[in-house]
Amino acid sequence: MPDKKEKFYLTTPIYYTNGLPHIGHTYTTVVADVIRRSKRMRGYDVVMTTGTDEHGVNVERAAKKAGVPESEFVATMADAWRTLWDELGIPADEFVRTTDLKHVRTVQWLFKLCRGNGYVYKGHYTGQYCIYDNAFVNDAKPGDNCPDCGRPLETVTEENYFFKLSSFQKPLLDFYKKNPDFIQPDTRRNEIISFVEGGLKDLSITRTTIRWGIPVPGEEPHVFYVWFDALTAYLSAVGGPDYEKRGYWPADLHLVGKDIIRFHTVYWPAFLMAAMLPVPKQVWAHGWFLMDAAKMSKSKGNVVLPRPIVNMLGMDALRYFLLRDVVFGQDGNFSYDALVTRYNSDLANGLGNLASRTVALIQKNFAGKIPKPATFKSQDEALAKEAQNAIGEVLENFDKLSFARALETIWTVIAAADKYLTSEQPWALGNSEADQVRKATVLWTTAELLRIVAALAFPVLPDSAAKVWTLLGQSEALGKFEVGGLRWGQLAPGASLGKAQTLFPRVDKTEAIERIEAMANEELNPTPATHAPAANAPAATGASAAAAAAPAVSDKIGIEDFAKVEMRVGQIKTAERIVGADKLLKLTVDIGTEIRQICAGIAQYYEPESLIGRKVAVVVNLAPRKLRGVESNGMIVAASVGPEGRPVLTGFHEEVEVGARLK
Ligand code: MSP
Repeated sequence: MPDKKEKFYLTTPIYYTNGLPHIGHTYTTVVADVIRRSKRMRGYDVVMTTGTDEHGVNVERAAKKAGVPESEFVATMADAWRTLWDELGIPADEFVRTTDLKHVRTVQWLFKLCRGNGYVYKGHYTGQYCIYDNAFVNDAKPGDNCPDCGRPLETVTEENYFFKLSSFQKPLLDFYKKNPDFIQPDTRRNEIISFVEGGLKDLSITRTTIRWGIPVPGEEPHVFYVWFDALTAYLSAVGGPDYEKRGYWPADLHLVGKDIIRFHTVYWPAFLMAAMLPVPKQVWAHGWFLMDAAKMSKSKGNVVLPRPIVNMLGMDALRYFLLRDVVFGQDGNFSYDALVTRYNSDLANGLGNLASRTVALIQKNFAGKIPKPATFKSQDEALAKEAQNAIGEVLENFDKLSFARALETIWTVIAAADKYLTSEQPWALGNSEADQVRKATVLWTTAELLRIVAALAFPVLPDSAAKVWTLLGQSEALGKFEVGGLRWGQLAPGASLGKAQTLFPRVDKTEAIERIEAMANEELNPTPATHAPAANAPAATGASAAAAAAPAVSDKIGIEDFAKVEMRVGQIKTAERIVGADKLLKLTVDIGTEIRQICAGIAQYYEPESLIGRKVAVVVNLAPRKLRGVESNGMIVAASVGPEGRPVLTGFHEEVEVGARLK
């Protein structure tokens, strides 16, 4: 443990504001939070920064599409990101936005330092540019697609300021040699070294073709290129030009996805060296979470959202899964099936079951107070040894960011305790003095093991570990507990247990997955009143706010756009409520050519029986989707009335034929 609170500064990437967080982004931020918590438990004074990367042509375009000024667009999006992190219990200590004045000043200051030291010059650049990734692609030819995202590249020529990256080949290679831990994991380090050994070209760091960026003082229309701007956010978050006062720079750790390792380990140290500023200590690149073997992206339609999972299983379950199932640094596949399986086996049956069994037995046999152990038998000592050994192993693995290993060790200890309880059978012991003493020893041993498990698992399972901790009558807040002092044998007899509770209720896999998917569907495609929001989805999610901002009110569409929507007269044949979805009705509707099943969010305003035989307008060419696990194949049109958006179904005052098209 450090003598005086040693500082530890870590960062996540700052995320683009033209999209909203999915599981991939959540992964990086969760990992940062786990490191933050584990370092705090080791006595460090930790600052964790995250934030939003708000400049560039993508934002310009997205804001235009939404019909709002860029500043308004990014403010809404930054708010959505910040709110999500807060909601998920992973708030930033510093949330930096690249439109913050303190950041603007830091970027301009860094540029001045680099220019003053002779590393910046003016020139022209023509190249193939990916507007999605905001990067020129070296060695690409006109007509090529972006090697990262596959989108078509554009040829761009403009006057730029250049950074003399070529001058840093040797300094960087020397730096990597002197600091072998700077780039992690080792495979990435080797990749970067070969890349730098292959030669470095100077880098354009300003643009004149983009308007939405930080101006280069006195050099308008130059604005800073996105990486010179974005990387500097790490420094502006902790004081910018005054970084020495706060004392957190250089950063101890930049956590990044493997897609952006080069920017962090080549450009960023070179900018800092040019400005004669201290260089970060380590950059750790993790792999990607893949869905159907591809990187998640909204355009591919394969994103997994964090909120629906958290609504269904809790944040700790998501955190556990992200860290347990994938070796940190490697790619991993995301699957709802694997998530729910892990939840039921490791959390509900594993930790949850051990905690509730132990607490229930102590409540029953020792009036809810931790019993006093007596003579330990060899099997008690063996368990004690296993738990004691786990402490060092787990802490070491957290330090090495080997999260899956750390969790595996903790769960081996949990399994050993389960086995121990099953073979010792304290519930089968009688009331003789000898039996009582043995019962006390067995239950104290299990409770002590649980206390150690809670302390070790806390960085990953902050809510549930804290619950176990309080259940065991520990008064000190677990987040403040210094885990370096954790030893077997510290559980004091006599402490009163907290009230027993189910930490992780078991779930039915199929039902849980259906509910998660339904909520995700709702968040990704928020619909008008006829598609009600899933019962426990938050009312105004970031996604719906952003989607609401998307179509510009003043935008006009052509008749060909309207013609794409096929609306027909339908007649409702049956209507029934859906169990567990109090806003939805399941309807069958005759649309002339077939009978369709459609879900409509009108259950709070229409009695099912009153709808039978009614003629309504139906959008019949809407892609089918599942709402609360029920397939909906079309949409009933309704007016949305009043502040609460009460649905009022359309009707016809003259006789209309079922199936007639609305034009
Ligand atoms: N704005 C830049 C970073 C600038 S840092 C100075 C950017 N933003 S991003 O929104 O695209 O987020 C990138 C980060 O999100 C990745 O580096 C990675 O940490 C995380 N992930 C995005 N998709 C991911 C997966 N599918 N899986 C795991 N992490 C992923 O790049």
